[in-house]
Amino acid sequence: MNIAIGQLEDLGEIRELWLEGNAIFAGAPHIFQGGDFEDIENAVQYGTALVSRHGGQVTGFIVYRLLGDQASLTHLIVEKGRRGGGVGTALVKAAGKRAAEYGATKVVGLTWPENGVHHLYEKVGYKIIGYVVGAEL
Ligand SMILES: CC(C)(COP(=O)(O)OP(=O)(O)OC[C@H]1O[C@@H](n2cnc3c(N)ncnc32)[C@H](O)[C@@H]1OP(=O)(O)O)[C@@H](O)C(=O)NCCC(=O)NCCS
Repeated sequence: MNIAIGQLEDLGEIRELWLEGNAIFAGAPHIFQGGDFEDIENAVQYGTALVSRHGGQVTGFIVYRLLGDQASLTHLIVEKGRRGGGVGTALVKAAGKRAAEYGATKVVGLTWPENGVHHLYEKVGYKIIGYVVGAEL
């Protein structure tokens, strides 16, 4: 597996994954209004979407955003057949590293009680703060 900055030519594969994983976000509209693929297209254009690749195929992605020295992680999705294999962890770590390289000292990610993803974040060192998880970078 390798992690790289998402490219415009990856958007087709990213969209497939997004369509598959987006139902999760749709189930928590009180936490995150993530239903717009345009956000992801913009992130790819700005170079703030990272993708995981296996044999050249896009298998997951994450978007990070910077607001001064704070970063936020959104749109973490891994291909169904690859889940549980450490891809999500690798994407979260890579996004945090990249945000830190740009000067971020804090990062928040998204979680909610019905979604077990907080387990992943806690393993990487994030702490639960309400519905978000956060860490010093
Ligand atoms: C969340 C997601 C990206 C995790 O990717 P992944 O590659 O499966 O994550 P990892 O393999 O690195 O998981 C690390 C640990 O967290 C656990 N974990 C990750 N996501 C989990 C979930 N949704 N529910 C329960 N446990 C989860 C894994 O079982 C693993 O635990 P272990 O190391 O003790 O065995 C993936 O499940 C996914 O795409 N889900 C649908 C979209 C989604 O929920 N996105 C996050 C919204 S904030």
